[in-house]
Amino acid sequence: MKAIVINRFGGSDVLELASDHPEPTPAPNQVLIKVNTAGINPLDWKICEGQLKFLLGARFPMILGNDVSGEIVAVGRDVHRFSVGDEVFCLVDTLPDPSWTGFARSGAYAELAVTREDTLAFKPHSMSHREAASVPLAALTAYQSLVHKAGIKPGDAVLINGASGGTGIFAVQMTKALGGFVTAVCSGDNQAMVAGLGADRVVDYRAHPVSDLDETYDIIYDAAAVTSFSQCRTLLKTSGVFISNLPDPLGMLAKFSYPLTRIWGGGKRRDFAWVKSSGGDLEAIRQMIDAGKLRTVLDRTYRMETIRAAHDYSRSGRVRGKLVVEFTDS
Ligand SMILES: NC(=O)c1ccc[n+]([C@@H]2O[C@H](COP(=O)([O-])OP(=O)(O)OC[C@H]3O[C@@H](n4cnc5c(N)ncnc54)[C@H](OP(=O)(O)O)[C@@H]3O)[C@@H](O)[C@H]2O)c1
Repeated sequence: MKAIVINRFGGSDVLELASDHPEPTPAPNQVLIKVNTAGINPLDWKICEGQLKFLLGARFPMILGNDVSGEIVAVGRDVHRFSVGDEVFCLVDTLPDPSWTGFARSGAYAELAVTREDTLAFKPHSMSHREAASVPLAALTAYQSLVHKAGIKPGDAVLINGASGGTGIFAVQMTKALGGFVTAVCSGDNQAMVAGLGADRVVDYRAHPVSDLDETYDIIYDAAAVTSFSQCRTLLKTSGVFISNLPDPLGMLAKFSYPLTRIWGGGKRRDFAWVKSSGGDLEAIRQMIDAGKLRTVLDRTYRMETIRAAHDYSRSGRVRGKLVVEFTDS
């Protein structure tokens, strides 16, 4: 099969299009998906550069990519909820058993990909494969951060930094769908797009730095991961929570010593996103999509042959919404 592989860590020049990569075989609890479109995330070029080798190891050739929309073409003997011919989307985890870290193993940049049944959801009826492939990792990150980590409630005041990026566009819409009041932060060029997603207030961080804002929030979700708990602390309400998309060692220490930091910190807490592949969470996201409460914003669509340009653009940090790469001609 055709697959985009790397044989060593490095920049986008190490990405190669292999035409005869061995096809994967599904384990008993896995399905084999004919990939229509794969989504692209910053995680992909970070893995490509070797930034996560301490978590994921270094096995070459390695197929990158975690987001897929496509059709099931084979199922393992223990798969019961999905069948051949089903159109599905997911955050691919090619490991037969979830890793202890919860970190998924990639494998989406290929004509065929395997993943466990528990990672799958049916593709939204209202989306094309191209649109659906842009959803899983970014939307799951936003959903798990807002719902599971922050415990968002109707009426919460929520600040979303990086609102125009992959996770930000979903975080803005989910907060609205869950009854929150959104202050969205992005560059001036993206203000209109973010307002169109339903944000109640949109702030250009170049004109008004986040630390200068004059409101307080129940939740600050830094999807762009460019601020810190200490910079945002005064913007949090007494029992507010700050969630960054990038875990940092100090943040991890503070999170796990929360009973102590709660006493010293007056109830404000910090946490970090750690996206996990979950068919259950993705089904909740699918329902929001098919109910018309969540849509994607596709910035650019690539072909397999132009994947290096896709990684370079993602690395620029200026993507508006999402990028995808198509693996079929239809
Ligand atoms: N821990 C996890 O589980 C997890 C999961 C997903 C993502 N992440 C990480 O989270 C980060 C964001 O991911 P993503 O998919 O949303 O990335 P992305 O789609 O590449 O986000 C790009 C956006 O970042 C915005 N941005 C850049 N500098 C900014 C600044 N100083 N202030 C505010 N916004 C700024 C840009 O908006 P403007 O052009 O409008 O400035 C652009 O729209 C990445 O580092 C990614 O690896 C972590």
